[in-house]
Parts: sequence; structure tokens; C-alpha cells
Amino acid sequence: MNRTLHSIVPTHTVLEGGGFKVRRPAAMGRLMSPFLLLDEMGPVDYAPGEAVGAPDHPHRGFETVTYLLAGGMKHADSAGNSGDLNPGDVQWMTAGRGVIHSELPQDHMMENGGRMHGFQIWVNLPAKDKMMAPRYQDIPSHDIPEATNEDGTVWAKVIAGEALGIQAVIDTVIPITYIHLKMQPGATYTHTCENNHNVMIYAFGGSMDIEGRSLHDGGLGLLSEGDAVTLVAEEDGAELLILGGPELGEPIARYGPFVMNTRQEIYQAVEDYNNGTLA
Ligand code: CO
Repeated sequence: MNRTLHSIVPTHTVLEGGGFKVRRPAAMGRLMSPFLLLDEMGPVDYAPGEAVGAPDHPHRGFETVTYLLAGGMKHADSAGNSGDLNPGDVQWMTAGRGVIHSELPQDHMMENGGRMHGFQIWVNLPAKDKMMAPRYQDIPSHDIPEATNEDGTVWAKVIAGEALGIQAVIDTVIPITYIHLKMQPGATYTHTCENNHNVMIYAFGGSMDIEGRSLHDGGLGLLSEGDAVTLVAEEDGAELLILGGPELGEPIARYGPFVMNTRQEIYQAVEDYNNGTLA
């Protein structure tokens, strides 16, 4: 049974942290489990000296996934991991029991300015994995599988899960689908979905038809249940993310950069952070 577009969550542009421009769902609570946050960073054109990032900040209980389309970031964390993110690269950071994370523009972005564009999504962890050891996967673009359909009208980058018969290389704690798709005008793509997964589509260019309903640039489309979804790009083509994963069905206690199951666990995270034992 094909999935339909059961609702569309609009996105709005906000300034995050030190003036970082992001586009995010207007109602974050509408994001489907296991996703907690979906930020489209930019696109923004920085003048020299203008680029901003997020210096040292804590995380516990979930994963942050950064996918850069343009610009350059450098990430580092208290588990001793660090790496540069260049266009097409993905950093899949599992905070688990805790890290102190730093996400800053690369020096050349600071000095010369330039275009910054990308995504950060937060993936929740099930209760049994929230306190796992931190893990870091820094995958350069050339190691992330890409595929094109037979007539060359659909291109996919397979960050997690599977598309066009190609399997992702990134290892996820729970099964996740994260596909970047570019569709030429009129192109059709059918994505096979796990029946019991929540699936949503974020359009960030052009527009598409999903079973008779249009999803436009800046719209987050939540899909009904089913084992497939068919997208048909409209006259200006479409660029989008497909995000899918299981319904965790566990209580969420959330306070800033900590996402746990109970308030007690949040107090503990704050206490651990304050006394220096979070990470
Ligand atoms: Co972070």
C-alpha cells in the first residue's frame, strides 16, 4: 500500500545560537519519532569574519547528524574526535552518555566568508542505549554511496538505509533511513519503506506530488503508513530528504541539549554537566 501525505508541517527561519540562520519545522513536536530536530542550516552567504558556529556545548541521550552541502565546518568533541566537514560529508555523532561538542566554521570560512548550507538532524536513542559510550562516524562524501536511476532523472545519496538498490555504509544504532534525493522535472521515484517505520519528507527545492497532494520547498511532509511512497517531481524539479525510523514509543524528557526519558534523568544530566562528569 502506498503511503500518502497525511499532513504538511510548514518551516520557518530562525536565528540560532550566535546568529546562525536555520530553517526548521514551525512545530518541532510534529517531527516523527525517532527524530527530534530537523534544521536546514542556511543557505547563507557570509562576508569575511561573519561566519558563526556553536562552540563547546553538551549533548546526552541522542545522536546529532550533520550533512554539509556547501561551506566548511570543523567539529570536535570531548571523546577526542575531530574532523573537517566539507560539502557532501556527513558526521554521525552518537552522544550517548555525553560529549562536549564544538561545531565551528573552518578557518577559510571565517577569513574569506562564503556560502554555508547543510542539515543537522537529531535522532533519538532508545532508553537502553541512551547511556552508551559516545561514538563518532566521520564519513567523507566520496565514501557515501550515490546512485542514479535508469533514465538519469533521479539522483540519490544514501546516507542511511537504502535507495535505488544501494545500501548505506554508515552504521546506525536503530534502523534509520536518510536519503538526499534530486529529481528532474516530471521524474518519478518510488521508495520502499519499512512498514512499521515513521517516514517524512523534507522538500528544500522545487515541489513534488505525493498521491495527489503537493509538497513544496520548505514543507515537511508526514506520511501515512504503508510499504512504499511514490514521488513525482513537478515542473521545477524537486530536491528533498527522506527520513525514516521506528516509533520508539518511550516518554521524552527534553531540556536543551539533553534528551532523556524522565525528569530525574534530566536533573542528573545537568548535575553531571555542572560537576564536570558528563563527558
Ligand atoms: Co552539537
